[in-house]
Amino acid sequence: MIEFTNVTKSYSVGTKALRGVSMQIEDGEFAFLVGPSGSGKSTIIKLITGELKPTSGSVHVNGYSLERIRKREIPYLRRTVGVVFQDFRLIDNKTVYDNVAFAMRVVGTGTREIRSRVPYVLNLVGLEHKSRRHPGELSGGEQQRLAIARALVNNPSTIIADEPTGNLDPARSLEIMTLLQEINNLGTTMLVVTHEQNLVEQFANRVITINDGLISSDRMDGHYDYED
Ligand SMILES: Nc1ncnc2c1ncn2[C@@H]1O[C@H](COP(=O)(O)OP(=O)(O)O)[C@@H](O)[C@H]1O
Ligand SMILES: [Mg+2]
Repeated sequence: MIEFTNVTKSYSVGTKALRGVSMQIEDGEFAFLVGPSGSGKSTIIKLITGELKPTSGSVHVNGYSLERIRKREIPYLRRTVGVVFQDFRLIDNKTVYDNVAFAMRVVGTGTREIRSRVPYVLNLVGLEHKSRRHPGELSGGEQQRLAIARALVNNPSTIIADEPTGNLDPARSLEIMTLLQEINNLGTTMLVVTHEQNLVEQFANRVITINDGLISSDRMDGHYDYED
């Protein structure tokens, strides 16, 4: 579960990125987070992953209290939260297989488990036939599917995606959103930042809208509540 209670975040004197955000996302939910550029979406993501601490208020994620988490506990939190970045952050000199396997090695998973799990997640995202390729040999949509495989491989209970379709054409974007929906159907909680009104309305999930550091609407009917 993700729970924000009266969260504020100031980057420096005068920049208040979040001005009192409260929200709760239950296990197994699929929620979109939308809002204008600069409204605070990425700040919310970074508070969930422990990259930033709140200035005030509390953030609870999968049993961890992020306002007082210890540095050595952050790797444990991160095993419960997979992150998909807009810019993919793939390792260019590793194969598709090794990009995914590496995410398991860094958390100390043994070879036997890696050998059975990596093909499973590559198959889930439709990349099993590309496992010996390098990221530079993949299309944009394939790179994003690889980033999703990597976010999934440690079997997190939650996946956070920050504009996962930002660089893709409409057909590829639809494929990626469908894949995220399928992963959610398998039980993973999903929080997806997007600007794509069409996709939000098509998937008709919960939509949390943030404006100028405050939640301005939170609704279940897929309605997209602001104009760019
Ligand atoms: N590292 C930072 N230092 C100072 N200000 C920042 C930093 N990151 C973001 N901001 C500011 O905080 C506000 C919210 O940013 P952000 O969360 O990135 O918005 P969004 O993802 O919705 O575009 C913006 O005004 C932005 O300029
Ligand atoms: Mg952002």
